[in-house]
Amino acid sequence: SVYEHIIVEGKGAVGVITLNRPKMLNALSFGVFREIAAAVDDLEADDAIGCIVITGSEKAFAAGADIKEMQPKSFIDMFSSDFTAIGGDRVARCRKPTIAAVSGYALGGGCELAMMCDFIICSDTARFGQPEITLGTIPGIGGTQRLTRAIGKAKAMDLCLTGRMMDAAEAERAGLVSRIVPADKLMDEVMAAAEKIAAMSRPAAAMAKEAVNRAFETPLSEGMNVERNLFHATFALEDRAEGMAAFIEKRKPVNKNR
Ligand code: HXC
Repeated sequence: SVYEHIIVEGKGAVGVITLNRPKMLNALSFGVFREIAAAVDDLEADDAIGCIVITGSEKAFAAGADIKEMQPKSFIDMFSSDFTAIGGDRVARCRKPTIAAVSGYALGGGCELAMMCDFIICSDTARFGQPEITLGTIPGIGGTQRLTRAIGKAKAMDLCLTGRMMDAAEAERAGLVSRIVPADKLMDEVMAAAEKIAAMSRPAAAMAKEAVNRAFETPLSEGMNVERNLFHATFALEDRAEGMAAFIEKRKPVNKNR
C-alpha cells in the first residue's frame, strides 16, 4: 500500500478508509491527514466507488490530533503549514456520500473528522468529546462550529469548556449520531448502509448531499431555493426517469448514473 498510517480498500462500490495507528489510538498527525486527503482524492476519482466509509479501531476512531507532534510547534509553524486546512477541508468537500463508523474514542480532531462525514453511525462503546481545553488549546477543525450546529449551543459549550466525554446514548439524543449499533455489528451495519447508498443514482445522491449541506450555509429561503433548483435538475437525469418508471412497472431501477 502507498499509505503508511491508513488502510484504503475498495469493497465493491464502497471505499473504506481505516485509520491504522493502533498504538497511538489513531492520533491524527499531519501525515495521517495528508493520507486521508489523498485517499479521498483517489476514491472520489474512482468510478467504481459510490460511497466512502471512514473508520478506526474498536478502541478508538481517533483520540485526536497527535499531541506529541503538536507539542513543540509554534504559532508560525501551525499558521504556515495550514495544518487545519489540510485536515479540515478534504473530507467535508467530498462530493460522494461519506459515513463515519465510530467505535471507542472520537476525541478532539477525531470527533471533528467524524463530523466532516455526512453522518455518523457509532457503536455503543463510542465516546465523543472536545478535550482540547484540557491541553490549553481549542478545537481547530470544526469542534466549535460543526458541533454547535449539530447539537446546539448548550451541549457544545458544555463539551468544549469542560472537555468531558459524551457516551453513545447522549450523542444520539443530542443528534450527533444517526444510529447506535452493538460494537460487534458496527461494520456490518455501516457497510449495509454504504452499499445501499452506493446503489442509488450517484448524481441524485450527490445532489441530495449538496442540498442538505446548504442548510448549514444559508437562510431557509435560500436553502429552499437551492433545494428546488436541484430537485428540478433531477428531471434532467436518466436515473430519475428510470427510477419512476421502475416504480410504476414494479421492478428495480437500473441506474446509469447520468
Ligand atoms: C498522541 C496519543 C493521543 C493523542 C492517545 N495517545 N491519544 N498520542 N496524541 N491525541 C497515546 C498515548 O500517549 C499512549 O501512548 C497510547 O496512545 C494509549 O493511550 P493511553 O492514554 O495510555 O490510553 P487510555 O489510558 O486508555 O486513555 C485513552 C484516552 C487518552 C482517554 C483517549 O489517551 C487521552 O486522553 N488521549 C488524548 C485525548 C485528547 O486530548 N485529544 C485531543 C487532542 S487535541 P504511550 O506511548 O504513552 O503508551 C486535538 C486538536 C485538534 O485533537 C485540532 C486541529 C486538528
